[in-house]
Amino acid sequence: MLTRTLTISALLSVAAAQINLSASCTKALTTIATNADANACLTPSPLLPILTDSSASVVDPINNWLTSLCAAPSCSNDTIAAIVTNATTGCATDLAAIGYTAESTPAVSALIQQYYPTVRNVVCLKDGNTNCVTQTLTNIQGVLGPLSIQNVLALVAADTNVTLPANISCTNCLKAAYNAVNTEIPGLFTTDTVQNECGASFTDGATPAGISETASTKTAASQTKDSGALMLGVSSATLLMIISSAFAVFA
Ligand SMILES: *[C@@H]1O[C@H](CO)[C@@H](O)[C@H](O)[C@H]1NC(C)=O
Ligand SMILES: *[C@@H]1O[C@H](CO)[C@@H](O)[C@H](O)[C@H]1NC(C)=O
Ligand SMILES: *[C@@H]1O[C@H](CO)[C@@H](O)[C@H](O)[C@H]1NC(C)=O
Ligand SMILES: *[C@@H]1O[C@H](CO)[C@@H](O)[C@H](O)[C@H]1NC(C)=O
Ligand SMILES: *[C@@H]1O[C@H](CO)[C@@H](O)[C@H](O)[C@H]1NC(C)=O
Repeated sequence: MLTRTLTISALLSVAAAQINLSASCTKALTTIATNADANACLTPSPLLPILTDSSASVVDPINNWLTSLCAAPSCSNDTIAAIVTNATTGCATDLAAIGYTAESTPAVSALIQQYYPTVRNVVCLKDGNTNCVTQTLTNIQGVLGPLSIQNVLALVAADTNVTLPANISCTNCLKAAYNAVNTEIPGLFTTDTVQNECGASFTDGATPAGISETASTKTAASQTKDSGALMLGVSSATLLMIISSAFAVFA
């Protein structure tokens, strides 16, 4: 256990140095990454390869991660609040640089608690046996090349406008994701824009053929002892990347 924690800590330090995180922020992320409750519901260990090789595609690690995440129970609101409190407290100076102040923490925690079930349902959609995020990222790789951290950062830095063809942005998977988000957060997408890209049937609310919802409906009970390890910083960043790539399709 100690060895494992040290390894995680070493990996986190390397990752943290690359994006210039403070020591207290790295420490807070390590604490979260080794917290039993956070691990039980976020199951981040399949993402570790992303930390060790920034030139490899993230699609396989993400696929492996979602397979374990969707089978695992969901995080309780208490676990979410503890993660947000620990991260925002430990990373206070880092977050101050982007204008974040501690007063925002309760509101941020409530927002994450509110949208977490929808996000979890969306990232656990499957088309047949293929996870929808995996399918979508694989399609995007067909256009942009391998989605490695290096390549994605280069794309972001270049501020490239990527237009995805309709056979990538209007799949059954993304229609199901659109349905789920539109039900929970009405008005997030402009229907006209979506219909222009994908046709009127995309917004009819019907569940497309072959799509299933695979998220476990159990909620994680609180545990007492710490288990092995992981990397919440990367898992939430990656989650954000997945969600924004899915949503960017409609932007
Ligand atoms: C890293 O953070 C330190 C302290 O905030 C700052 O002085 C330094 O310029 C930063 N380096 C980079 C590469 O952003
Ligand atoms: C939050 O931090 C406390 C104090 O360091 C720690 O005991 C607890 O395990 C952490 N919880 C999470 C979810 O990170
Ligand atoms: C979790 O918190 C959110 C917002 O704070 C609330 O809407 C939701 O009902 C809570 N879920 C449970 C299971 O208590
Ligand atoms: C989308 O269409 C293009 C051009 O017809 C084709 O080369 C590509 O394989 C298609 N992609 C998918 C995911 O169907
Ligand atoms: C990308 O698209 C936005 C909105 O259409 C436009 O304002 C911006 O200049 C474009 N950027 C590039 C690099 O083409």
